[in-house]
Amino acid sequence: MKLGVAILAAGQGTRMRSALPKVLHPLAGRPMLAHVIEKARTLAPDCLAVVHGHGGEQVCAAVPDPDIRWVLQAEQLGTAHALVQAMPALDGVDRVLVLYGDVPLIAEETLATLVGAVDASPLALLTVRLDDPTGYGRILREGAGRILRIVEHRDATPAEREIREINTGVLVADRPRLAAWVSRVGNANAQREYYLTDVVELAAADGVNVRTVHPRDPAEVEGVNDRVQLARLERLLQRSQADALMRTGVTLSDPARFDLRGRLAAGRDVSIDIDVIIEGDVELGEGVTLGAHSIVRNSRIGAGTCVLESSVIEDSTVGTACRIGPFARLRPGTRLADGVHIGNFVEVKNSAIGQESKINHLSYVGDASVGVAVNIGAGTITCNYDGANKHRTVIGDKAFIGSDTQLVAPVTVGAEATIGAGSTITRNAPPDKLSLSRAPQTTIDGWRRPKKRPKPD
Ligand code: UD1
Ligand code: CA
Repeated sequence: MKLGVAILAAGQGTRMRSALPKVLHPLAGRPMLAHVIEKARTLAPDCLAVVHGHGGEQVCAAVPDPDIRWVLQAEQLGTAHALVQAMPALDGVDRVLVLYGDVPLIAEETLATLVGAVDASPLALLTVRLDDPTGYGRILREGAGRILRIVEHRDATPAEREIREINTGVLVADRPRLAAWVSRVGNANAQREYYLTDVVELAAADGVNVRTVHPRDPAEVEGVNDRVQLARLERLLQRSQADALMRTGVTLSDPARFDLRGRLAAGRDVSIDIDVIIEGDVELGEGVTLGAHSIVRNSRIGAGTCVLESSVIEDSTVGTACRIGPFARLRPGTRLADGVHIGNFVEVKNSAIGQESKINHLSYVGDASVGVAVNIGAGTITCNYDGANKHRTVIGDKAFIGSDTQLVAPVTVGAEATIGAGSTITRNAPPDKLSLSRAPQTTIDGWRRPKKRPKPD
């Protein structure tokens, strides 16, 4: 049995009040639509079609998966109209699953169960009972039994509005039969739209016993129509990600104050303090601790490393047993070997720092190769940019760079060299020697501090 998935994502999302198409609004750092596509992929469909319209090419560009069949619905005339556009792209499959671009939290097992239900009937719906069904299509049954049709909230009578079983919109059907039903849907309703929900009545009239499947958690089928719902879904998703992490052995000081926008692979006994943000692909070795308010983006941090408060680490690789921060910034291309110390107000960029080296206070190290056991004093700066080009600084093993040194690149400091504090180093400093550049200190004898003149009054 070949499965095709159609994701309806052409709607404007008026209630978002946004220049960005609704399905591109991010959830946990990725477009809402990308979450729906990811869920669809868990079923290994033979064909994946996405109906887009509002936002045009912007939507296709945001999800550049080469196998997606993009279907343009130039005018949004309703969900049935959207599916009709997608039917040619789904040619050759036996079953079609319809998902919505604005319902991103649906669970893998729910989808699998729903798709399985088509073995028993050519049409199966995902429905759920809600305490407050306002706004949703209602499921009309013959007594408590056979499904007769779906009525949209706007078209429902007061008695029908009392029904609490609602249509989530998600359905699966036999492709040829769905194609026939959907082509017969009209638009005689409150919104003059072609409602996909009308296929249910057509199926029932053909004697089909429409099946229903329910999600384990009603939150799975919540849709995003405005930014309040978007924020609610973000919290739901963050909480479930946090719970999953804690179950793998990560301590979160407060799961409500942790945000993962991407993927985190964490070893045992990783401990994460409050208000930490993880973005992109991040790997944390066993026992890593992340201090409050830290941000780690696309980086790998080795076992036992301690990142103190308010540090920002981006596109970097950090060895084991390092100590970083508080208030440190590792910019792209930073590679710290094991046991490195990076202290407060230190910025490192595109540099490799050797084992056990220390840069503890107020420094900028950019485009540098620093050897092992180097000590870089407070306020040291690599002058890597001449206004046109970037140049490298090379510092040998066990060198000692005195405080407030400027290393004007390109420049090399030899192994075990010592640089006197306050130097501006413009030429290579040889190994094992003391180099310094400093105006000689003088003392003026008999100098007096100026005194304030008495005010004439
Ligand atoms: C729809 C269902 C309703 C259900 C609810 C669940 C219909 C007629 N109604 O209502 O029974 O309770 O979802 O959330 O289907 N779209 C297109 N092209 C269009 C119109 C919509 O691609 O011409 C897409 C939208 O981008 C969206 C999805 O279809 O992703 C649903 O459309 P929306 O207008 O939000 O439908 P609802 O009024 O929520
Ligand atoms: Ca909707």
